[in-house]
Amino acid sequence: MQLPSSLVQLANERIEPFDCEGFLPGAGPADATIMFVGEAPGETEIHNGIPFSGRAGVIFDSYLDDLNIKREDIYVTSAVRSRPYKWGQTRAGVRRKYNRTPNQKEILAHAPVLDYEINRVQPQWIVPMGKIAYWRLLGTSPRLGDVTGRIQTHPIRQWEEANEAYIWTARNYNIFPIYHPAAILYNRSLEQTMKEYLNTLAAHALHI
Ligand code: URA
Repeated sequence: MQLPSSLVQLANERIEPFDCEGFLPGAGPADATIMFVGEAPGETEIHNGIPFSGRAGVIFDSYLDDLNIKREDIYVTSAVRSRPYKWGQTRAGVRRKYNRTPNQKEILAHAPVLDYEINRVQPQWIVPMGKIAYWRLLGTSPRLGDVTGRIQTHPIRQWEEANEAYIWTARNYNIFPIYHPAAILYNRSLEQTMKEYLNTLAAHALHI
């Protein structure tokens, strides 16, 4: 889906004060039924221009395989569309940028982008992957295991410029929080639980 250039310009201006680089729009058809929302692109994604194309992307693709759907069938985006980075050093002492979790100001800077994507796509199902997406959409940070794999029918938060506040959408969405694919990379014991969650999502969202 093509984003209006004025929206991209606004997002770039707002993210400028922070240690973030690049801009990668979400991907997928504008009439997708399911929207997956991640955290922020990493180095690989900014380099090759495809959401979830690095190590976490391999896990993300396995989610889609389990659901028996393809990238063309879904919309995939994230709370922040630039890569938040921090400086560090390799073991050999070379200074380099490392991926990091976006903070609330960075999430706010790109809130209009995610709001636009959701408003255009109007997905039946929104799948926040991980804590950042959950907080962005629902405004709370529960222990993730308490909310993953369960359907919530609820409005989501969108940024209202006039009041400089997040407000709730008028409509309800079916929200199905799951673990961020990177969480599976670091904790393989979540794999089986994730498969059960995906079965639940398939049964309700895809009727299979
Ligand atoms: N993590 C995300 O949230 N999005 C990506 O595109 C890659 C990693």
